[in-house]
Amino acid sequence: MQFDTVIASGQVVTAGDTIACDVGISGGKVAALGKGLSGREVIDASGKLVLPGGVDSHVHIAQPSGDGIVMADDFETGTRSAAMGGTTTIMPFCLQERGVPMREVLRDYHAKAEGQCYVDVSFHLIISEPTEQLLGQDLPALVEDGYTSFKIFMTYDDLKLNDRQILEVMAVARETGALVMVHAENYDAIRFMTEQLEKAGRTAPRYHATSRPKVVEREATHRAISLAEVVDVPVMIVHVSNRESMEQIRWAQQKGLPVLGETCTQYLVLTEDDLEGLGMEGAKYVCSPPPRDVESQEACWEGLRTGVFSVFSSDHCPYRYEDEQGKLNPNAKSSFRWVPNGIPGVGARLPILFSEGVSKGRMSLEQFVAVTAANPAKTYGLYPRKGTIAVGSDADIAIWDSDMRVTLEHRMLNDGADYTPYEGFEIVGWPVMTLVRGRKVVQSGKLVGSKDHGLYLPRNRSPFASASKSGL
Ligand code: URP
Ligand code: ZN
Ligand code: ZN
Repeated sequence: MQFDTVIASGQVVTAGDTIACDVGISGGKVAALGKGLSGREVIDASGKLVLPGGVDSHVHIAQPSGDGIVMADDFETGTRSAAMGGTTTIMPFCLQERGVPMREVLRDYHAKAEGQCYVDVSFHLIISEPTEQLLGQDLPALVEDGYTSFKIFMTYDDLKLNDRQILEVMAVARETGALVMVHAENYDAIRFMTEQLEKAGRTAPRYHATSRPKVVEREATHRAISLAEVVDVPVMIVHVSNRESMEQIRWAQQKGLPVLGETCTQYLVLTEDDLEGLGMEGAKYVCSPPPRDVESQEACWEGLRTGVFSVFSSDHCPYRYEDEQGKLNPNAKSSFRWVPNGIPGVGARLPILFSEGVSKGRMSLEQFVAVTAANPAKTYGLYPRKGTIAVGSDADIAIWDSDMRVTLEHRMLNDGADYTPYEGFEIVGWPVMTLVRGRKVVQSGKLVGSKDHGLYLPRNRSPFASASKSGL
């Protein structure tokens, strides 16, 4: 039998195993794993690792960001950067601006993505206004249509839900089998801190971190877990930055509560010190929660190693630095409060975790695949189509040279931002080829795919959140 493509003689890694074999690909799917396979095209992977393409389940693309602020990536640039870094599926958020029906929000996002994606894409919903119509009619129908996860925020003026609203969204998730993702930071505490800092003239970007100390994240994490316990529904706490919050999740998991956790690149390799200085450079690192300290980094590594965090994402949320519509907007100099929150990272996520995790011996290859591909795919209802290399799976594959040394430069990431917070990082291990459904999208650092190749993926329900009619 001749396959369309054979990736020959590599070490094939999944979340469970590493085996030396060829991968036969036909019709965009993995068709065989074995030795001596023959194909119309043969890609020599000897001496290389053959990994499932990354699944980045926390990405913001072309998201409305407030007056005069524009996100640096649209679907073309965001998905192209994902592919450069070995990621083959991304899950951006469709943000509901208050007053806009969710179906309209989705129409806009689909229109923005249509024909513009180098990799596959699926959408989470951000719920900012849980009206009766949304809770009672729209969300149940949207879950049926494959939008099976919602993010809710405990902070930000335009997004914050109160506890009652959170309970209501969680109750719908329980009824429909959707998974709720929570941004856990205490809104009132942050406002209080921000006002105090501004009164004291402490307005430089570095004070962004001061305004949201660990305790505001820890308290909200515990509250989110408790609200989920009240409703008896699984919950995913996203972008966890520190030990105290990680320990809330571990405590809940040890109690047997269905609580999941995610951490991100910035919490492993950046600290609050990166925001230092009284100039504006610190704005390049302003994200929420903020990067913390070395002990927090250790805690996030511990959370990843021990499974408290099952998912590792980028929280790619890019704004250009030298730009009036970005980090250096006209208000930003007056206070950190006006610096848009978020940093780019969809392209850097996998190389940094590979280098800092696998190459430095902090995690095994299989763990790397688990947290970057298999677990996000499982958690959000895309497995085994995505996140593994198995017969019948989509042939989404990244071929890695585990010895390749790269000094990271922004230009390599090919995104729409004008900087990377990881500039100059010394990386060991690099994805030298990315294939999406059997088609090459990146080869030797060059984009060779086309932007109409990416598909939109409706998702199954998360296996962690199977629908059960509540007794409430
Ligand atoms: O600062 C961040 N992370 N902005 C992105 C939005 C979010 O909260 O995930
Ligand atoms: Zn968030
Ligand atoms: Zn985010």
